[in-house]
Amino acid sequence: PIWGSAQRGLFFVFEGLDRSGKSTQSKKLEEYFSKAGRPVKWTCFPNRKTPIGAAIDLYLRRQLELPDEAVHRLFSANRWEMAQSIVEDLRAGTTIICDRYAFSGVAYSAAKGLDFSWCQAPDRGLPCPDGIFFLHIDEKVGAARSNFGDERYENAEMQARVRGQFKDPRLRANVNWQDVNGARDMEVIHAEIRSAVEAIRQEDQVQLPWQQCS
Ligand code: TMP
Ligand code: MG
Repeated sequence: PIWGSAQRGLFFVFEGLDRSGKSTQSKKLEEYFSKAGRPVKWTCFPNRKTPIGAAIDLYLRRQLELPDEAVHRLFSANRWEMAQSIVEDLRAGTTIICDRYAFSGVAYSAAKGLDFSWCQAPDRGLPCPDGIFFLHIDEKVGAARSNFGDERYENAEMQARVRGQFKDPRLRANVNWQDVNGARDMEVIHAEIRSAVEAIRQEDQVQLPWQQCS
């Protein structure tokens, strides 16, 4: 195959509302890979450790005001500044597990009233995940879990709007989107995600180089 004897790493993304269990599940999947001795890296967006991420962090903690359009572009630029290293890791055989990606970028900004396809445009061409696990929680479960902090967007009104945007079929188009019921026991959810991951690993497409998001 294109990759010679070594298989490339896989790229998995976790998406969902705040408090939907993304961090828990993404870290459990990372642990599953590392216990099996497969090279793996966990990462997240926003990546607050880069200079662009530092500006995003100030914005989220309400210490910086920016127009919605500008911060949308910063979130996207924050992915672009990591894109090269993601591709290099995948090529080197390391699986990447990522807590949020471009799908959050679109859902959160569109929830603020920005045009949906305008929101999608800046992320076109980024490495496309092999699987996106979208953790669903309904409004009641969300409310029960929601001891929200005071970051921007961490309020019930915004979460309800984001929930609506995540339902838009344009997010799911041309990607391997997997809906996961996030209201169950965390081990049950993890087992379901694990078997989806193993199924994706078997697919031929994994022999191909990483693709770009369209
Ligand atoms: P976090 O809680 O996962 O650290 O993400 C911080 C907030 O940023 C969260 O409310 C979702 C939001 N967000 C965007 O608005 N656009 C993006 O592109 C990403 C990755 C996150
Ligand atoms: Mg948060």
